[in-house]
Amino acid sequence: MIRALAPGRVNLIGDHTDHTGGLVLPMAIDLATTVSGHRGKEVVTLRSPAEPEPAVVPIDVSDPAAVTPGWARYVAGVVAELRPEAGFSGEVSSSLPIGAGLSSSAALEVAVALALGFEGPPLALAQLAQRAEQRASGVPCGIMDQLASAAGVEGHALRIDCSSLEVSPVVLPGDVEVVVVDSGQRRELATSAYAERAAACQAAQAELGPLPSATLGDVAGLRDPLMRRRARHVVTENARVDELVAALAVGDRAAMGEVMAASHASLRDDFEVSTPVVDALVARLRGVDGVIGVRLTGAGFGGCVVTLVERGAPAPPDVVAWRVRASAGAHVEEI
Ligand code: GLA
Repeated sequence: MIRALAPGRVNLIGDHTDHTGGLVLPMAIDLATTVSGHRGKEVVTLRSPAEPEPAVVPIDVSDPAAVTPGWARYVAGVVAELRPEAGFSGEVSSSLPIGAGLSSSAALEVAVALALGFEGPPLALAQLAQRAEQRASGVPCGIMDQLASAAGVEGHALRIDCSSLEVSPVVLPGDVEVVVVDSGQRRELATSAYAERAAACQAAQAELGPLPSATLGDVAGLRDPLMRRRARHVVTENARVDELVAALAVGDRAAMGEVMAASHASLRDDFEVSTPVVDALVARLRGVDGVIGVRLTGAGFGGCVVTLVERGAPAPPDVVAWRVRASAGAHVEEI
């Protein structure tokens, strides 16, 4: 019997920066997806209590995006990238809310890859799972979600340079907690809107060169006003990642709050991936006792917001929230 576990992630800051090789600061969380079962035969069959239909994927699957039901595409993407020698029969279970922006799909891909016998370092695992996600969903996603799930470190966020792919654990202050709050808005139009935003960033890079080394002066020289705003978000967000790392290192509450507020405003106004529901939630949480900082997290278009709160502060009233801990990355065991 094989059991593989892969955590979801929440991103503290650095959104929509990974697809242009920028900086991100996610952490793996103690909500996770587990795949357990036996290897054998030539088909991967997985059942999930959350899904009415099983995923049934032959190990020589050729077009993962055409597989049904929808959730089986992520399994098929991994099978197509990994080409395991044998199939698998088992169960998927998850404590992650599905489609809420906590990387339930990345956790599924990483857990499936380990269950099917992937062997190698966390970066290679994440790269395989990222390709699987792109094939399954058609979304040109970056590497943040899969790398956070594969390389998580207990008690630490991960500062990832998405150009060099260097992962640096950043210790979280003991007296600060991370609380994720669900906006209740499930992501819509995320596929086309994500691809459109990523394409705008690529167009900006075609004029300016890599955005991680572009300055605000360079960005101001872009002729297209929409492209200018998209690129301005990326350039300022990259800088904010290291500002939050510095604020966490010295426990500077005011700086944490300010940099998270600036990130949210930039995602809302320049990158335009927030929604009125998410904006209202962020505004409401900002005034709650014990909340240090709050911002949209992940791709946007609904999903969750992330808050830093004083340890032990009561949960914000009238919301669906998870108090999450920074956790170790994915692992597999024989039981
Ligand atoms: C999604 C993608 C990531 C990243 C975030 C936004 O979660 O999968 O690669 O781009 O959106 O930061």
